[in-house]
Amino acid sequence: MDHLRWSLDERVQTSSLSDLDQIELVHEALPEINFDEISLNSSVSSSSSSVSSRQQLPWQVPFFVSSMTAGHEGSAQINEALAGLSERHHILVGVGSQRKELGNLQASQEWRSLRKKFPGAILAGNLGLSQLIQIPEAKLQDQLGRLIECLNAQVFFVHTNPLQEVLQQEGTPQFRGGLRAIENLVKAIKIPVVLKEVGCGFSLETLKKLNGLGLYAVDLSGKGGTHWGRIEGARFEPNSPGYRVAQTFDNWGMTTLESLLAVQGITCDYKIWASGGIRTGLDIAKMITLGADMVGIAQPWLKAICGGPSQQPEDVALRLDQLFARLSMELKISLFCTGCASVAELSRKKVWKWRKFPAN
Ligand SMILES: Cc1cc2nc3c(=O)[nH]c(=O)nc-3n(C[C@H](O)[C@H](O)[C@H](O)COP(=O)(O)O)c2cc1C
Repeated sequence: MDHLRWSLDERVQTSSLSDLDQIELVHEALPEINFDEISLNSSVSSSSSSVSSRQQLPWQVPFFVSSMTAGHEGSAQINEALAGLSERHHILVGVGSQRKELGNLQASQEWRSLRKKFPGAILAGNLGLSQLIQIPEAKLQDQLGRLIECLNAQVFFVHTNPLQEVLQQEGTPQFRGGLRAIENLVKAIKIPVVLKEVGCGFSLETLKKLNGLGLYAVDLSGKGGTHWGRIEGARFEPNSPGYRVAQTFDNWGMTTLESLLAVQGITCDYKIWASGGIRTGLDIAKMITLGADMVGIAQPWLKAICGGPSQQPEDVALRLDQLFARLSMELKISLFCTGCASVAELSRKKVWKWRKFPAN
């Protein structure tokens, strides 16, 4: 619960470091489109080697709810609210780490009842790389199969979070064998696997290493929003040794923009998803025109759920719908004013430029 509470505190956000305001989209004064013709539809075919046959991935917007909650007090209500959002708007929703379900068959009951209530939700499973590494190869299919089955997940996220694990009091900073574990996982399961960070991004050299593993996508999840160095630091007693060490790393990581620009210099056999500090539909548009295939947002959804005066399910749903509507409208305006009728066109046309800063 600590994590949830701290993630809503503005001090753990690195928004001032995101660099997203250095990018501008190029205005088109003659768009030659009517606003109501603009489509956000982005359902795609998956042809990843991790998927046995070509499969239609069912989401209809190019942005998603990044993995957040699982297995703690209050998480069932949050997951229900997000699954409802997914069912109403056909948006992909990542659930938080399913670590608990690995050793506890009872824990998967929560996911089964969620799925039963929301059969139309598009859900992604989630597990940390440092947990994945611990699973013997012979048991992968069985154990991961169970995590996927209880949720009926359409996508599986593996998160890599070395900074968080090493700072966290109860962390498991064991990452030896990570690449091999990812490769084995991709072979063992039949749904697309997406590797993600949790707010520190990927460097060019790391991205190169991920070719050839059969990943469907890599979600860059860079610095610019929720920062786990800051969250883990905030969980320590002020001025304790752990607090001071965490403080040293509270600006650590590659920004989402830096990671996205790094990727332009290489060929990847996986898609690029972007998240970390994405707060508006204009941010989503910037990521897409810079090469992201899908764009993730985490903390603002949580803020919409927890931040209002009422926790009645219908009021929470209304706040989530309002956030969804705002992001969609901002993205549509970004398409319209760059003269793009579709997300695919925005991606193709590369309508961005560096912002000119006034000379001093
Ligand atoms: C409360 C909270 C819990 C999170 N838990 C997970 C998790 O279990 N698994 C995961 O892959 N990422 C987790 N994340 C990281 C997010 O998916 C995302 O990568 C990160 O927060 C950056 O996005 P943001 O700046 O939009 O918040 C969590 C984020 C938040 C805010």
